Amino acid sequence: MNNKQLVAIQAATYVKDGMLIGLGTGSTANYFIEELARRQRDDGLKVTTVASSTISANMAQSLHLPIVALEHISRIDLYVDGADEITPEMTLLKGRGSDLVKEKLLAKAATQFIVVADTSKLVSYIGQNFVIPIEVIPFAWQLTKKNLEDVGAEGDLRPNAAKDGLWISSHGSYVLDMKFDKSIDAKTLNDLINNTPGVVEHGIFYGLADTILIVENGIVTELRA
Ligand code: 5RP
Repeated sequence: MNNKQLVAIQAATYVKDGMLIGLGTGSTANYFIEELARRQRDDGLKVTTVASSTISANMAQSLHLPIVALEHISRIDLYVDGADEITPEMTLLKGRGSDLVKEKLLAKAATQFIVVADTSKLVSYIGQNFVIPIEVIPFAWQLTKKNLEDVGAEGDLRPNAAKDGLWISSHGSYVLDMKFDKSIDAKTLNDLINNTPGVVEHGIFYGLADTILIVENGIVTELRA
């Protein structure tokens, strides 16, 4: 069993019968989805799921997990997802993919949000290893970029995989991948991007994680907010 699988299985021990579970997106979240399906099949676990992305929804469906649409829920019991960066204060950077809007909605709607990751995701500050993905309304991208540059950010629109066009998120937004001065603390950065017109959502998950399960060499450590 690899580290990602181990930490995902540990997260699944929080799941109880009757829960509405949010499914994250990414390789670690995939192991969690597989474990839910295994417990449903082997132990008769009864849960309903809601997915943060089409890819996770497809996986859940193919594994016969009951799934409801995001527009039909107002709260969930538990959300389990990975992260790209995790600071000592439990601020996260997420959204390497195209689904950070749904991911943040589920993180906020959850009674408990558990993050599953290995130690490679631990950083001292947000933006240490990755640029910050900022989804923008397409017609606003230039004005939004200028507003962010005015506070010292650098970056540009994310190109598509073939580099012959622009990356479009699942919700039809463009993505600005921006780097900020590392001296700006996570709360200030979160507020600053939240208050920038044209921004749909961004990858900083501030004050949302309740529990972080970190795995290294087969040992899972639990951090709590
Ligand atoms: C997707 C995410 C993922 O959870 C994050 O990229 C971690 O992925 P992985 O578990 O594959 O390392 O935020 O938007």
